[in-house]
Amino acid sequence: MLILGIESSCDETAASVCEDFRKIRSSVISTQIEEHKKYGGVVPEIASRRHCENILEVTKQALRDADVTLADLDGIAVTYAPGLIGALLVGVNFAKSLAFAAEKPLIPVHHISGHIAANYICHEKLEPPYLCIVASGAHSHLIEVLSYTEFRVIGRTRDDAAGECFDKCARAMGFPYPGGVHIDRHAQEGNPLTFKLPHPVVAGNEYDFSFSGLKTSVINMLHRADQKGEIIDKKDLSASIQHTISEIITEKTMGAAEAYGYKKIALAGGVSANSGVRAALSKTCSDRGFEFYMPELSLCGDNAAMIACQGSYNFAAGIIADESLNAVATMPIDSIKF
Ligand code: KG4
Ligand code: ZN
Repeated sequence: MLILGIESSCDETAASVCEDFRKIRSSVISTQIEEHKKYGGVVPEIASRRHCENILEVTKQALRDADVTLADLDGIAVTYAPGLIGALLVGVNFAKSLAFAAEKPLIPVHHISGHIAANYICHEKLEPPYLCIVASGAHSHLIEVLSYTEFRVIGRTRDDAAGECFDKCARAMGFPYPGGVHIDRHAQEGNPLTFKLPHPVVAGNEYDFSFSGLKTSVINMLHRADQKGEIIDKKDLSASIQHTISEIITEKTMGAAEAYGYKKIALAGGVSANSGVRAALSKTCSDRGFEFYMPELSLCGDNAAMIACQGSYNFAAGIIADESLNAVATMPIDSIKF
């Protein structure tokens, strides 16, 4: 089975061909980061325009790299939610037209289910059920992966997502967008115990996340230092931020795994590239006898291989869209609608 995947939910235009669920025949990503960097974040209209310009060539390249033609495909999968609406619309409309012209089924994919599926590409033996912590620029979710196509959210972010917290702290420290990776780099040479940063107490659901208090405390610390003319060591602050976020993610994930009876845990989303989060979860899982899975670095951020892989599972489960498929900016993974 050959599935073409198309991704355009944020600032990466991507296409990929996946064979028999987990084998990636090609994966092409055109990133717009350099352009959005100038504005300190993604500018939605620019993102939509670049997707529009790039999506055809990226798709042609993915087909060429995989050595297949449109006729060889069994279906065309596309991210339709959640994300920047103008960006999603480019991918959805393109995939819809391609599916119509090539007379192939159109397969809708939820972006977060795609991030989770990145783990199937890297781990041949991983099968549901398991608990997945998805941490990206817009989400921090603890998700029960009940089957390849069924999900239940048991914890979500109340305010800033983990990636957003990394990026906003990084911005306050003067690092360029997206700042998460700069905090990661600086943290390598810093002391994580230099600054004591707050762990949130979230009333109501102990598995929900809140990162805005941590962000505010970092911003206030930088302002105070600035007013007093003091210099804060960016390496130590980066290491302290990374250490605190890694601890919060690890504590919540392990607590939820124990409460819900999961011995298998996976990490997904852009923040799964963070070396501190990867190390903290791997070590804790191994110390406590849990199986742990995470994507290889190239599959942590947005890509279409994960969409093609999840699209294959959706297709096998009969999840096919009709011609009225629309893009949706906000849609929880456990209330997927077409
Ligand atoms: O999943 P993703 O590529 O896009 C969304 O779906 O949101 O996640 C992007 C997020 C950004 O906030 C980015 O700063 C963060 O993932 N990120 C990192 C690292 N690499 C990417 N955060 C911390 N450390 C990293 N190494
Ligand atoms: Zn993403």
